[in-house]
Amino acid sequence: MKILVFTEKPFAKAAAEAIANTINASGNEMKLVEKGTRADLLEAVKDVEGLIVRSDVIDAEVMDAAKNLKVIVRAGAGYDNIDLAAATAHGICVMNTPGQNSNAVAELVFGMMVMMCRNQYNGTSGSELKGKSLGIYAFGQVGRNVARIAKGFGMSLTALDVFVPDAVMEAEGVKPLHDVDKLFSENDYVSLHIPATKDTKGSIGYDLVMKMPKNGVLVNTARKEVIDEAGLLKALEERTDLRYVADVKPDNAKEMEEKCAARVFFTPKKMGAQTAEANFNAGVAAAEQVIAYLKDGWNKYQVNK
Ligand code: 3PG
Repeated sequence: MKILVFTEKPFAKAAAEAIANTINASGNEMKLVEKGTRADLLEAVKDVEGLIVRSDVIDAEVMDAAKNLKVIVRAGAGYDNIDLAAATAHGICVMNTPGQNSNAVAELVFGMMVMMCRNQYNGTSGSELKGKSLGIYAFGQVGRNVARIAKGFGMSLTALDVFVPDAVMEAEGVKPLHDVDKLFSENDYVSLHIPATKDTKGSIGYDLVMKMPKNGVLVNTARKEVIDEAGLLKALEERTDLRYVADVKPDNAKEMEEKCAARVFFTPKKMGAQTAEANFNAGVAAAEQVIAYLKDGWNKYQVNK
């Protein structure tokens, strides 16, 4: 069977090779389209049974064009780029690869926090992470890796996640919180790891950010959609001590950069999972999952049940 690997943002070379080896060894055939356009995607999906993507948008139009498609695996954690209802209606199984790229994202959180507390390395005197408090918003795979690394920095930790029992956080030395206002008011740093859903979209805005203590830093390696961008900008303009660092460039990035200068930083493209290791782990896992589904319906990580 044919498996399309379509990545607007390509995997590292070694990861793409490992994916190809995995697919070829299974007796399936791989098609690789890197940096492809929407038109390329619509053409390439026409004859494939399996599809591996990253943050590439897979909607009903793509599924209509993919007459043979049985399974889509998002090589990564978040699957807000895939229309799950359309997939279900088309009889297509959608899976993600949980945990495979979470260390890479968690390490970037610290890269970004150090950069911000050292004033973007501009030569002025900054501050240290040791002894500061960190609020982790969502205690999934990334949040847990963030907690693990934060301990090495000597930060005190709290987390909020309605789906995770307190005991799981406590076992990691993290104090559970049940109130989002407290997460913002009690932490020098807040790191977002919530998915983009209808409930979370636009949920982080003026009111929450204004609750942060003096010199608070908001770190977003999750999704730009969870931010109310106008509200955040208003807060950053009123509170010139606050800072925002994101791996997910906001739509109002230019305005934020003009008005807040070095208090904000955005990666030009989502970089959290862009490491050789994360690409390899997520890419090979995705290949194995597509192969297993096509072989005997293996669907452990199906997200459109
Ligand atoms: C994820 O949801 O796994 C991360 O945001 C990584 O996304 P990417 O594969 O587009 O880098």
